[in-house]
Order: sequence, then C-alpha cells, then structure tokens
Amino acid sequence: MACTEADFAYLRSVVYEQSANKLDASRDYLFESRLQRLLRTTGLRTLDGLVAALRRQPDAAIKRSIAEAMTINETSFFRDHAPFEMMRLELIPELIRRRESCRRLRFWSAACSTGQEGYSLAMILCEHFPQLRDWRVEIIGTDISKEVIARAQAGRYQRLEVNRGLPARLLVKYMHRVEEEWEVVPELKRKCRFHQRNLCSGPMLLEKYDGILLRNVMLYFSSETRQRLLRNLHRVLAPDGFLILGSSEQPELPGHFQAVVQHNGCYYKPLPQRFDMDSAAGPGC
Ligand SMILES: C[S@@+](CC[C@H](N)C(=O)[O-])C[C@H]1O[C@@H](n2cnc3c(N)ncnc32)[C@H](O)[C@@H]1O
Repeated sequence: MACTEADFAYLRSVVYEQSANKLDASRDYLFESRLQRLLRTTGLRTLDGLVAALRRQPDAAIKRSIAEAMTINETSFFRDHAPFEMMRLELIPELIRRRESCRRLRFWSAACSTGQEGYSLAMILCEHFPQLRDWRVEIIGTDISKEVIARAQAGRYQRLEVNRGLPARLLVKYMHRVEEEWEVVPELKRKCRFHQRNLCSGPMLLEKYDGILLRNVMLYFSSETRQRLLRNLHRVLAPDGFLILGSSEQPELPGHFQAVVQHNGCYYKPLPQRFDMDSAAGPGC
C-alpha cells in the first residue's frame, strides 16, 4: 500500500519534532528515496509500514534517523566566496589585534554539513596568518547529521567536491591524494573538530566564540525557532566577535545584532543586552 497524505504529514511532523526543519508537502516525494537505507536496516519493506510501526511503537532512534536522512547537506569549499574574503581582509586581522594578549581564537561552523566551510576557514588561517602558528586556534563544526559529521571528521572529498570552489593552488597545498579521493592534511585537521549536535535542542556549547558561521540552515526553521537560536548564539558570541549568515538570511531578532555592510558582504556584531554581564565584561580574551 502506498503512503497516504496522513502518512506523509506524520513523517513531516517527525522531522519537525526531531530537527525543527519545516518540510513543505511539495517535497514529500523525497521520503521514498531518502528513507530506503533506513527501511533496509529496520527490516521494514515499505514507507507506510514504517509509519505504521512508528505509530504503534514510537522509537526515538528511528525518528532521529528519519530527520537526519531528510536534511539537505548542500555545501562547498569557500561557498559564496565573499564571506571568506571579508574574514581574510577585515574580521580576522581585527580579531588578531584584539586577542594579542590571550593568543586564542575560536570559531564555530554551525550546521557545518561535510566540513568544507570549517576547512576553508582553516586554509585561510594557515595561508594568510602565519603569526597564528603558536596561537591556540580552534574551529568547531557541528551538524545534526551523524553521517555528514563522520565525513567532516574523515576530511576526505571526491574529485567533484574539491572541484567546487577550491582553487588548484590550495588543493595541492592542503590536500593529498588517497586513491580516487583527496584528504585534508593533518595541519588543517588539527585545527578542526566536528561534533554531532542539534542546534535547536539540548544545551548550547558553553564557551565563547570569536566568530560564528551560521549559513544556509535557518531557512529550514520556523521564525520562532530562528529567534530562539539567534538568542542562544548571541549568548555564546564574544562581545567583539562576529556572526556570518547565508547571503539571503537575516538575524530577525530586534536589538541583538547590528549589521555591518562592507564591499565584500555583510556580517553582524552582537549588541550588548541590558542585563548581560558577559557583554559588559569587554572583549572575548
Ligand atoms: C544546506 S547545509 C549548509 C552547510 C553550510 N553551512 C553551508 O552553508 O555550506 C544545511 C545543514 O544544516 C544541517 N541542519 C539542519 N537542521 C539542523 C539542526 N536542527 N541542527 C544542526 N544542524 C542542522 C543539515 O544537516 C545540513 O548539513
């Protein structure tokens, strides 16, 4: 028997409950192909069988797997180019001046997918800021999907993936060939750590970040979820740090961020909040 409208609505509600991603009914056809692997591992033969089994006996692990399978993991090295130029030319030099005393920088690639965003930033740091060699520099990447996090940790990419956005000069300097694939060199891997984490539930990472990249993920969330997430990010962003969003995204949270428009694009500075002791404490060192 094929899935009914009610079955698809149930699957959409599972995705929303687990990942806060609001799926449009026009994408229902994707469930069939994306959940094939899960069907095989659960031993269930059909999608409607899966829905019926979950309705009878809800299983948190299967629900999480459904949500993960439905994520859209599109990414590439130096995606959109402009934000990386902005970091290279303005934001990182400024942070280096401000962090001279503690010699520490922390970045967060939130919803990092397969890791290209974090490794692109690591390449910029190695390539253009040799003075950071003896600083403590960390790039944390997080994503809800276990599968993409495993790929980010492996740091291995297919030819098609490195051909998207990675200049040849950086490819030969920061990747080495492993059979048919390319693997990130240890120098970059040491700077990057990747963890599975849901941005919309569970505790936030507690330490402060000097820069947060939250790109091309908020579009899947409701306005309420976006606001809650941005409020949480504001708490963990250093008062003199920066937030970069996707080119079509905005921080729809009045009074928390100020847009700074530059010729290379736009970033957001956190605004101090009235009772925010962290913000009053000064820079993030
Ligand atoms: C389109 S990719 C964007 C990747 C990267 N930020 C970029 O701009 O190239 C969106 C990523 O968000 C992740 N994602 C979706 N919902 C999430 C959530 N609730 N928590 C964490 N990651 C989530 C997906 O797994 C996916 O890898």
